[in-house]
Amino acid sequence: MEKPSSSSPKTPKGGGSSFLADFIPPWLDLKGLSKDGACFVLGFIGSLILGWVIFPMALYSSQSQPMDFNHALHLNPEIVDGIEGDTEAEKCLYCHEFRDDGTFAGIPKLEKCTECHDDPESPLGETPEEKEFLEKYVAEEIEIPWLSYYRQPDCVFFSHVAHVQMGEVECGSCHGDHGTSEILPVYKKNRLTGYSIDIWGRRISGWKSNPWDRMKMDDCAECHTEKGHEENNACFVCHK
Ligand code: HEC
Ligand code: HEC
Ligand code: HEC
Ligand code: HEC
Ligand code: HEC
Repeated sequence: MEKPSSSSPKTPKGGGSSFLADFIPPWLDLKGLSKDGACFVLGFIGSLILGWVIFPMALYSSQSQPMDFNHALHLNPEIVDGIEGDTEAEKCLYCHEFRDDGTFAGIPKLEKCTECHDDPESPLGETPEEKEFLEKYVAEEIEIPWLSYYRQPDCVFFSHVAHVQMGEVECGSCHGDHGTSEILPVYKKNRLTGYSIDIWGRRISGWKSNPWDRMKMDDCAECHTEKGHEENNACFVCHK
Protein backbone atom coordinates (compact mmCIF):
# COMPACT_ATOMS: atom_id res chain seq x y z
CA MET A 1 0.00 0.00 0.00
CA GLU A 2 1.24 3.45 -0.84
CA LYS A 3 1.72 5.91 1.97
CA PRO A 4 -0.08 9.19 1.55
CA SER A 5 2.49 11.82 0.68
CA SER A 6 1.30 14.13 3.45
CA SER A 7 2.80 11.84 6.11
CA SER A 8 6.27 12.26 4.62
CA PRO A 9 8.56 14.00 7.12
CA LYS A 10 10.12 16.09 4.35
CA THR A 11 8.73 19.46 3.50
CA PRO A 12 6.77 19.21 0.30
CA LYS A 13 8.50 20.65 -2.75
CA GLY A 14 6.30 23.44 -3.87
CA GLY A 15 7.18 26.97 -4.99
CA GLY A 16 10.67 28.12 -5.98
CA SER A 17 11.48 29.75 -2.68
CA SER A 18 10.95 26.61 -0.61
CA PHE A 19 13.18 24.70 -3.03
CA LEU A 20 15.85 27.32 -2.42
CA ALA A 21 15.32 26.85 1.33
CA ASP A 22 17.68 23.85 1.29
CA PHE A 23 20.57 26.11 0.33
CA ILE A 24 19.86 29.04 2.60
CA PRO A 25 21.72 29.25 5.89
CA PRO A 26 19.29 29.38 8.84
CA TRP A 27 20.51 32.81 9.98
CA LEU A 28 19.45 34.37 6.73
CA ASP A 29 15.76 35.20 6.81
CA LEU A 30 14.57 35.30 3.23
CA LYS A 31 10.91 34.67 3.97
CA GLY A 32 10.17 38.34 3.73
CA LEU A 33 11.74 38.55 0.27
CA SER A 34 10.22 37.91 -3.09
CA LYS A 35 11.63 35.11 -5.25
CA ASP A 36 13.69 37.62 -7.25
CA GLY A 37 14.98 39.18 -4.07
CA ALA A 38 16.03 35.80 -2.71
CA CYS A 39 17.81 34.95 -5.95
CA PHE A 40 19.61 38.27 -5.83
CA VAL A 41 20.81 37.72 -2.27
CA LEU A 42 21.99 34.20 -3.03
CA GLY A 43 23.67 35.31 -6.24
CA PHE A 44 25.38 38.11 -4.38
CA ILE A 45 26.69 35.78 -1.67
CA GLY A 46 27.78 33.36 -4.39
CA SER A 47 29.76 36.00 -6.23
CA LEU A 48 31.40 37.15 -3.00
CA ILE A 49 32.52 33.58 -2.31
CA LEU A 50 33.73 33.29 -5.91
CA GLY A 51 35.56 36.62 -5.83
CA TRP A 52 37.07 36.49 -2.36
CA VAL A 53 37.67 32.80 -1.78
CA ILE A 54 37.65 30.72 -4.96
CA PHE A 55 39.28 33.19 -7.37
CA PRO A 56 42.26 33.95 -5.13
CA MET A 57 42.70 30.21 -4.53
CA ALA A 58 42.60 29.45 -8.23
CA LEU A 59 44.92 32.36 -8.99
CA TYR A 60 47.87 30.70 -7.27
CA SER A 61 49.49 27.40 -8.16
CA SER A 62 51.20 25.58 -5.30
CA GLN A 63 54.58 23.90 -5.38
CA SER A 64 56.49 22.10 -2.64
CA GLN A 65 60.11 22.85 -1.90
CA PRO A 66 62.54 20.07 -2.95
CA MET A 67 63.12 19.29 0.75
CA ASP A 68 62.31 20.81 4.10
CA PHE A 69 64.67 23.10 5.98
CA ASN A 70 64.52 23.80 9.70
CA HIS A 71 65.79 27.31 10.52
CA ALA A 72 64.93 27.03 14.22
CA LEU A 73 67.03 23.88 14.64
CA HIS A 74 70.07 25.32 12.89
CA LEU A 75 69.92 28.54 14.93
CA ASN A 76 69.68 26.71 18.24
CA PRO A 77 73.25 26.71 19.70
CA GLU A 78 72.41 23.69 21.87
CA ILE A 79 71.84 21.56 18.76
CA VAL A 80 74.06 23.15 16.14
CA ASP A 81 77.47 24.35 17.17
CA GLY A 82 79.38 26.89 15.10
CA ILE A 83 76.75 29.34 13.86
CA GLU A 84 77.93 32.34 15.79
CA GLY A 85 77.18 36.03 16.02
CA ASP A 86 76.37 38.71 18.59
CA THR A 87 73.04 39.58 17.05
CA GLU A 88 70.49 37.40 15.35
CA ALA A 89 71.22 39.03 11.99
CA GLU A 90 74.90 38.09 12.31
CA LYS A 91 73.90 34.46 12.78
CA CYS A 92 71.80 34.65 9.65
CA LEU A 93 74.79 35.99 7.74
CA TYR A 94 76.64 32.72 8.43
CA CYS A 95 74.53 31.21 5.66
CA HIS A 96 73.11 34.28 3.92
CA GLU A 97 76.29 36.11 3.06
CA PHE A 98 76.70 39.39 1.28
CA ARG A 99 78.29 39.01 -2.10
CA ASP A 100 81.59 40.67 -2.88
CA ASP A 101 79.88 43.71 -4.42
CA GLY A 102 77.95 44.11 -1.17
CA THR A 103 74.61 43.71 -2.84
CA PHE A 104 72.69 40.85 -1.55
CA ALA A 105 72.28 37.72 0.51
CA GLY A 106 71.17 34.66 -1.40
CA ILE A 107 70.06 31.21 -0.44
CA PRO A 108 73.19 29.26 0.60
CA LYS A 109 74.81 26.81 -1.79
CA LEU A 110 75.46 23.18 -0.96
CA GLU A 111 79.09 23.92 -0.07
CA LYS A 112 77.79 25.89 2.94
CA CYS A 113 75.88 22.87 4.19
CA THR A 114 78.79 20.53 3.69
CA GLU A 115 80.91 22.58 6.09
CA CYS A 116 79.06 20.48 8.67
CA HIS A 117 77.24 17.75 6.72
CA ASP A 118 80.53 16.71 5.15
CA ASP A 119 80.26 12.93 5.18
CA PRO A 120 77.21 11.36 3.55
CA GLU A 121 78.00 8.12 5.36
CA SER A 122 77.82 9.59 8.87
CA PRO A 123 74.82 11.77 9.63
CA LEU A 124 74.97 14.36 12.43
CA GLY A 125 71.57 13.37 13.79
CA GLU A 126 69.14 10.50 13.32
CA THR A 127 66.29 12.03 11.38
CA PRO A 128 65.04 10.66 8.04
CA GLU A 129 65.10 14.26 6.71
CA GLU A 130 68.84 14.47 7.14
CA LYS A 131 69.33 10.97 5.69
CA GLU A 132 67.40 11.95 2.58
CA PHE A 133 69.36 15.19 2.28
CA LEU A 134 72.67 13.33 2.51
CA GLU A 135 71.66 10.67 -0.02
CA LYS A 136 69.98 12.87 -2.57
CA TYR A 137 72.19 15.96 -2.52
CA VAL A 138 75.43 15.62 -0.55
CA ALA A 139 76.45 12.19 -1.88
CA GLU A 140 75.45 13.13 -5.44
CA GLU A 141 76.89 16.67 -5.17
CA ILE A 142 73.69 18.16 -6.52
CA GLU A 143 72.60 21.70 -5.62
CA ILE A 144 69.20 21.87 -3.91
CA PRO A 145 66.79 23.62 -6.29
CA TRP A 146 65.17 25.89 -3.66
CA LEU A 147 62.23 28.01 -4.71
CA SER A 148 62.62 31.63 -3.62
CA TYR A 149 59.61 33.19 -1.89
CA TYR A 150 60.94 36.74 -1.99
CA ARG A 151 62.98 37.23 -5.12
CA GLN A 152 61.91 40.32 -7.03
CA PRO A 153 61.84 40.67 -10.83
CA ASP A 154 65.22 41.42 -12.41
CA CYS A 155 64.34 45.06 -13.04
CA VAL A 156 64.31 45.78 -9.27
CA PHE A 157 67.50 46.75 -7.46
CA PHE A 158 67.52 45.73 -3.80
CA SER A 159 70.56 45.84 -1.56
CA HIS A 160 70.57 43.90 1.71
CA VAL A 161 73.62 45.77 2.96
CA ALA A 162 71.79 49.10 2.66
CA HIS A 163 68.81 47.81 4.62
CA VAL A 164 70.38 45.51 7.20
CA GLN A 165 73.53 47.49 8.00
CA MET A 166 73.02 51.12 6.96
CA GLY A 167 69.27 51.19 7.58
CA GLU A 168 69.46 48.81 10.59
CA VAL A 169 66.23 47.12 9.56
CA GLU A 170 65.76 43.67 11.11
CA CYS A 171 65.34 40.63 8.86
CA GLY A 172 61.95 39.98 10.45
CA SER A 173 60.52 43.36 9.42
CA CYS A 174 60.50 42.15 5.82
CA HIS A 175 60.55 38.36 6.15
CA GLY A 176 58.34 37.72 9.19
CA ASP A 177 59.29 34.59 11.11
CA HIS A 178 60.88 32.72 8.19
CA GLY A 179 64.27 32.77 9.96
CA THR A 180 62.89 31.03 13.06
CA SER A 181 60.53 28.60 11.34
CA GLU A 182 60.71 24.81 11.61
CA ILE A 183 59.06 23.89 8.33
CA LEU A 184 58.75 25.66 5.02
CA PRO A 185 55.52 27.18 3.76
CA VAL A 186 54.08 25.96 0.47
CA TYR A 187 55.43 28.05 -2.40
CA LYS A 188 52.59 29.81 -4.22
CA LYS A 189 52.97 31.43 -7.58
CA ASN A 190 50.50 33.81 -9.19
CA ARG A 191 49.38 32.17 -12.45
CA LEU A 192 48.91 35.52 -14.20
CA THR A 193 51.96 37.52 -13.13
CA GLY A 194 54.38 34.75 -12.12
CA TYR A 195 55.00 36.53 -8.79
CA SER A 196 55.34 34.65 -5.52
CA ILE A 197 52.48 35.24 -3.10
CA ASP A 198 54.93 36.91 -0.70
CA ILE A 199 55.46 39.70 -3.21
CA TRP A 200 51.95 40.38 -4.37
CA GLY A 201 50.30 39.46 -1.09
CA ARG A 202 47.73 37.04 0.23
CA ARG A 203 44.77 39.36 0.10
CA ILE A 204 43.37 40.47 -3.19
CA SER A 205 41.75 43.44 -1.42
CA GLY A 206 45.22 44.87 -0.88
CA TRP A 207 44.78 45.01 2.88
CA LYS A 208 47.69 43.64 4.96
CA SER A 209 47.99 42.89 8.64
CA ASN A 210 51.80 42.67 8.81
CA PRO A 211 54.44 44.71 6.99
CA TRP A 212 55.84 41.47 5.52
CA ASP A 213 52.54 40.24 4.04
CA ARG A 214 53.43 41.88 0.76
CA MET A 215 56.47 43.54 -0.88
CA LYS A 216 55.11 45.40 -3.87
CA MET A 217 56.45 48.71 -5.14
CA ASP A 218 54.12 50.72 -2.87
CA ASP A 219 55.16 48.74 0.19
CA CYS A 220 58.83 49.55 -0.41
CA ALA A 221 58.00 53.22 -0.81
CA GLU A 222 55.73 53.26 2.25
CA CYS A 223 58.61 52.24 4.54
CA HIS A 224 61.05 54.67 2.91
CA THR A 225 58.61 57.49 3.62
CA GLU A 226 57.99 56.28 7.19
CA LYS A 227 61.72 56.15 7.92
CA GLY A 228 62.40 59.54 6.37
CA HIS A 229 64.15 58.17 3.28
CA GLU A 230 61.88 59.61 0.58
CA GLU A 231 64.97 60.24 -1.55
CA ASN A 232 64.82 56.51 -2.37
CA ASN A 233 61.36 56.79 -3.91
CA ALA A 234 62.51 57.97 -7.32
CA CYS A 235 62.11 55.43 -10.12
CA PHE A 236 65.81 55.17 -10.91
CA VAL A 237 66.76 54.30 -7.31
CA CYS A 238 64.92 50.96 -7.46
CA HIS A 239 65.01 50.47 -11.22
CA LYS A 240 68.57 50.89 -12.50
C1 HEC B 1 72.37 26.93 8.30
C2 HEC B 1 72.13 27.89 7.25
C3 HEC B 1 71.10 28.98 7.45
C4 HEC B 1 71.06 29.93 8.44
C5 HEC B 1 72.00 30.11 9.63
C6 HEC B 1 69.94 30.80 8.13
N1 HEC B 1 69.33 30.39 6.97
FE1 HEC B 1 67.78 31.31 6.01
N2 HEC B 1 67.81 29.88 4.55
C7 HEC B 1 68.63 28.76 4.55
C8 HEC B 1 68.20 27.87 3.48
C9 HEC B 1 68.81 26.52 3.14
C10 HEC B 1 67.12 28.50 2.82
C11 HEC B 1 66.29 27.97 1.65
C12 HEC B 1 65.03 27.26 2.17
C13 HEC B 1 64.05 28.23 2.77
O1 HEC B 1 63.36 28.93 2.04
O2 HEC B 1 63.98 28.33 4.02
C14 HEC B 1 66.91 29.75 3.52
C15 HEC B 1 65.95 30.69 3.16
C16 HEC B 1 65.68 31.86 3.86
C17 HEC B 1 64.69 32.83 3.49
C18 HEC B 1 63.76 32.75 2.27
C19 HEC B 1 64.39 33.39 1.05
C20 HEC B 1 63.55 33.26 -0.18
O3 HEC B 1 63.57 34.14 -1.03
O4 HEC B 1 62.86 32.24 -0.32
C21 HEC B 1 64.69 33.80 4.43
C22 HEC B 1 63.82 35.03 4.48
C23 HEC B 1 65.68 33.44 5.41
N3 HEC B 1 66.27 32.26 5.03
C24 HEC B 1 65.96 34.17 6.53
C25 HEC B 1 66.89 33.80 7.50
C26 HEC B 1 67.09 34.54 8.72
C27 HEC B 1 66.32 35.78 9.12
C28 HEC B 1 68.10 33.91 9.40
C29 HEC B 1 68.66 34.27 10.76
C30 HEC B 1 67.71 34.36 11.85
C31 HEC B 1 68.52 32.77 8.59
N4 HEC B 1 67.75 32.74 7.44
C32 HEC B 1 69.55 31.90 8.90
C33 HEC B 1 69.69 28.53 5.40
C34 HEC B 1 70.00 29.26 6.53
C1 HEC C 1 77.21 24.72 11.45
C2 HEC C 1 76.86 23.35 11.10
C3 HEC C 1 75.71 23.11 10.14
C4 HEC C 1 75.48 23.70 8.90
C5 HEC C 1 76.30 24.81 8.22
C6 HEC C 1 74.28 23.07 8.36
N1 HEC C 1 73.81 22.12 9.24
FE1 HEC C 1 72.16 20.97 8.95
N2 HEC C 1 72.37 20.21 10.81
C7 HEC C 1 73.46 20.42 11.64
C8 HEC C 1 73.35 19.57 12.81
C9 HEC C 1 74.34 19.49 13.98
C10 HEC C 1 72.15 18.82 12.64
C11 HEC C 1 71.66 17.66 13.50
C12 HEC C 1 70.66 18.00 14.49
C13 HEC C 1 70.24 16.71 15.17
O1 HEC C 1 69.40 16.01 14.61
O2 HEC C 1 70.79 16.44 16.23
C14 HEC C 1 71.57 19.26 11.37
C15 HEC C 1 70.37 18.78 10.87
C16 HEC C 1 69.94 18.96 9.57
C17 HEC C 1 68.80 18.31 8.97
C18 HEC C 1 67.80 17.41 9.68
C19 HEC C 1 66.87 18.40 10.34
C20 HEC C 1 65.57 17.90 10.84
O3 HEC C 1 64.60 18.67 10.76
O4 HEC C 1 65.52 16.77 11.31
C21 HEC C 1 68.74 18.74 7.66
C22 HEC C 1 67.72 18.33 6.61
C23 HEC C 1 69.82 19.66 7.48
N3 HEC C 1 70.54 19.77 8.65
C24 HEC C 1 70.08 20.32 6.29
C25 HEC C 1 71.04 21.32 6.14
C26 HEC C 1 71.21 22.10 4.93
C27 HEC C 1 70.37 21.96 3.69
C28 HEC C 1 72.22 22.97 5.19
C29 HEC C 1 72.79 24.01 4.24
C30 HEC C 1 71.89 25.07 3.84
C31 HEC C 1 72.71 22.71 6.53
N4 HEC C 1 71.96 21.72 7.08
C32 HEC C 1 73.75 23.40 7.12
C33 HEC C 1 74.50 21.30 11.41
C34 HEC C 1 74.65 22.11 10.32
C1 HEC D 1 63.88 45.97 3.93
C2 HEC D 1 63.39 44.67 3.75
C3 HEC D 1 64.33 43.48 3.95
C4 HEC D 1 65.15 43.22 5.03
C5 HEC D 1 65.35 44.04 6.29
C6 HEC D 1 65.78 41.95 4.74
N1 HEC D 1 65.37 41.48 3.54
FE1 HEC D 1 65.90 39.73 2.65
N2 HEC D 1 64.87 40.23 0.98
C7 HEC D 1 64.17 41.41 0.81
C8 HEC D 1 63.82 41.55 -0.60
C9 HEC D 1 63.04 42.71 -1.21
C10 HEC D 1 64.34 40.41 -1.26
C11 HEC D 1 64.33 40.13 -2.77
C12 HEC D 1 65.65 40.68 -3.29
C13 HEC D 1 65.85 40.58 -4.78
O1 HEC D 1 65.11 39.88 -5.46
O2 HEC D 1 66.81 41.21 -5.28
C14 HEC D 1 64.97 39.59 -0.24
C15 HEC D 1 65.57 38.35 -0.48
C16 HEC D 1 66.14 37.56 0.51
C17 HEC D 1 66.64 36.21 0.33
C18 HEC D 1 66.54 35.41 -0.94
C19 HEC D 1 67.65 35.73 -1.83
C20 HEC D 1 67.58 35.05 -3.14
O3 HEC D 1 68.36 35.40 -4.00
O4 HEC D 1 66.75 34.17 -3.32
C21 HEC D 1 67.17 35.82 1.53
C22 HEC D 1 67.83 34.49 1.85
C23 HEC D 1 67.02 36.91 2.46
N3 HEC D 1 66.37 37.95 1.81
C24 HEC D 1 67.46 36.89 3.75
C25 HEC D 1 67.48 37.99 4.60
C26 HEC D 1 68.18 38.03 5.88
C27 HEC D 1 68.94 36.88 6.49
C28 HEC D 1 67.97 39.29 6.39
C29 HEC D 1 68.53 39.87 7.69
C30 HEC D 1 69.98 39.76 7.85
C31 HEC D 1 67.14 40.01 5.44
N4 HEC D 1 66.89 39.21 4.36
C32 HEC D 1 66.68 41.31 5.60
C33 HEC D 1 63.84 42.30 1.79
C34 HEC D 1 64.48 42.39 3.01
C1 HEC E 1 61.09 48.15 6.54
C2 HEC E 1 61.49 49.34 5.81
C3 HEC E 1 61.93 49.21 4.37
C4 HEC E 1 61.34 48.47 3.38
C5 HEC E 1 60.13 47.56 3.48
C6 HEC E 1 62.11 48.71 2.18
N1 HEC E 1 63.13 49.58 2.43
FE1 HEC E 1 64.51 50.25 1.06
N2 HEC E 1 65.41 51.37 2.50
C7 HEC E 1 64.99 51.45 3.82
C8 HEC E 1 65.89 52.35 4.53
C9 HEC E 1 65.80 52.71 6.03
C10 HEC E 1 66.85 52.80 3.59
C11 HEC E 1 68.02 53.78 3.80
C12 HEC E 1 69.26 53.05 4.19
C13 HEC E 1 70.35 54.08 4.43
O1 HEC E 1 70.82 54.66 3.42
O2 HEC E 1 70.66 54.30 5.59
C14 HEC E 1 66.51 52.16 2.31
C15 HEC E 1 67.23 52.34 1.13
C16 HEC E 1 66.93 51.77 -0.08
C17 HEC E 1 67.68 51.94 -1.32
C18 HEC E 1 68.92 52.78 -1.51
C19 HEC E 1 70.08 51.89 -1.16
C20 HEC E 1 71.39 52.31 -1.71
O3 HEC E 1 72.16 51.40 -2.04
O4 HEC E 1 71.60 53.50 -1.84
C21 HEC E 1 67.06 51.18 -2.28
C22 HEC E 1 67.45 51.01 -3.72
C23 HEC E 1 65.92 50.53 -1.64
N3 HEC E 1 65.88 50.92 -0.31
C24 HEC E 1 65.06 49.66 -2.31
C25 HEC E 1 64.01 49.01 -1.69
C26 HEC E 1 63.10 48.11 -2.39
C27 HEC E 1 63.18 47.75 -3.86
C28 HEC E 1 62.20 47.67 -1.46
C29 HEC E 1 61.02 46.75 -1.64
C30 HEC E 1 61.24 45.51 -2.33
C31 HEC E 1 62.53 48.30 -0.20
N4 HEC E 1 63.62 49.09 -0.38
C32 HEC E 1 61.83 48.10 0.98
C33 HEC E 1 63.91 50.81 4.40
C34 HEC E 1 63.05 49.94 3.76
C1 HEC F 1 61.13 51.89 -3.59
C2 HEC F 1 61.40 51.11 -4.74
C3 HEC F 1 60.69 51.43 -6.04
C4 HEC F 1 60.52 52.66 -6.64
C5 HEC F 1 60.93 54.03 -6.10
C6 HEC F 1 59.85 52.44 -7.88
N1 HEC F 1 59.61 51.09 -8.05
FE1 HEC F 1 58.73 50.21 -9.68
N2 HEC F 1 58.85 48.38 -8.75
C7 HEC F 1 59.41 48.16 -7.51
C8 HEC F 1 59.20 46.77 -7.16
C9 HEC F 1 59.65 46.11 -5.85
C10 HEC F 1 58.51 46.16 -8.24
C11 HEC F 1 58.07 44.68 -8.36
C12 HEC F 1 56.86 44.40 -7.51
C13 HEC F 1 55.63 45.07 -8.06
O1 HEC F 1 55.27 44.80 -9.20
O2 HEC F 1 55.05 45.90 -7.34
C14 HEC F 1 58.30 47.21 -9.23
C15 HEC F 1 57.68 47.02 -10.46
C16 HEC F 1 57.55 48.00 -11.42
C17 HEC F 1 56.99 47.78 -12.74
C18 HEC F 1 56.44 46.45 -13.24
C19 HEC F 1 57.58 45.61 -13.76
C20 HEC F 1 57.24 44.16 -13.85
O3 HEC F 1 58.04 43.44 -14.46
O4 HEC F 1 56.22 43.73 -13.31
C21 HEC F 1 57.04 48.97 -13.42
C22 HEC F 1 56.60 49.23 -14.85
C23 HEC F 1 57.63 49.95 -12.51
N3 HEC F 1 57.92 49.32 -11.31
C24 HEC F 1 57.84 51.28 -12.81
C25 HEC F 1 58.22 52.27 -11.89
C26 HEC F 1 58.23 53.71 -12.14
C27 HEC F 1 57.81 54.36 -13.45
C28 HEC F 1 58.66 54.30 -10.99
C29 HEC F 1 58.78 55.82 -10.67
C30 HEC F 1 57.54 56.55 -10.71
C31 HEC F 1 58.96 53.25 -10.04
N4 HEC F 1 58.67 52.03 -10.61
C32 HEC F 1 59.48 53.44 -8.77
C33 HEC F 1 60.06 49.08 -6.71
C34 HEC F 1 60.10 50.43 -6.93
